[in-house]
Amino acid sequence: MSRPPSFKALPKHIAVIMDGNGRWATARGLKRSDGHREGAVAIDKLMDSALSLGLQSVSLYAFSTENWKRPILEIRAIFDLLIEFIDSRLDSIHEKGIQIKHSGSRSKIPKSALASIDKAVAKTSKNRKLIVNFCLNYGSQDEILTAMNRLLEDRKMRGKPLDEKIKSKEFEKYLYTYPLSPVDLLIRTAGEERISNFLLWQIAYAEVYFTDTLWPDFGEVALWEALRSYEKRIRKFGGL
Ligand code: FPP
Repeated sequence: MSRPPSFKALPKHIAVIMDGNGRWATARGLKRSDGHREGAVAIDKLMDSALSLGLQSVSLYAFSTENWKRPILEIRAIFDLLIEFIDSRLDSIHEKGIQIKHSGSRSKIPKSALASIDKAVAKTSKNRKLIVNFCLNYGSQDEILTAMNRLLEDRKMRGKPLDEKIKSKEFEKYLYTYPLSPVDLLIRTAGEERISNFLLWQIAYAEVYFTDTLWPDFGEVALWEALRSYEKRIRKFGGL
């Protein structure tokens, strides 16, 4: 790990659509699951870079609500990798002061994977150096509908009127990502320029950075390039 350069402005929260594992593997005559394995190594590097830069949160799109359409063997490989990732790195993640968070629906996630995530979330819950938010079985439309339904159920339980206007501060408490701050920088690798149902509420004023680099090749220097682009942006949040 080299020492990071200094930046005029750094994002507090970056979100990453980690695309291109399959293409990385195919280009090498490997299995798609080998691409995902190398993708997990890139997650390792990103966590260390984020720590040395002092970023607050990193959200990673690891499995979407639409990824269930993939072949069952690939789905299994991704969840097995997640379990292996957590089991082999949890102690070092904890020692580094990283907090693990899960955003997404718990339904359909294999029990063994849920157990690993829950263990990591519980063990690291008091860590404050960096939050790494694994978006697993995550879809933004599902998140928003689930949040709305939970909010209404809560109101019902507490005897609060259901037709009282909903304010954004109240609503946000029901999002999977709560209490993370809004996303400042959204990165998508592998050349595709779309959002794919990722953090639609949270990226309202995010800067967006697309790169052709495939996720397994996205190392420290690639992150610095994204941050160089970010520091040049003039963020106005609708103002002047
Ligand atoms: C997108 O690439 C990647 C995914 C859908 C899965 C992301 C998973 C990882 C980065 C590794 C899993 C590890 C952990 C710790 C969860 P793609 O497969 O769509 O690539 P392609 O567009 O080139 O086919």
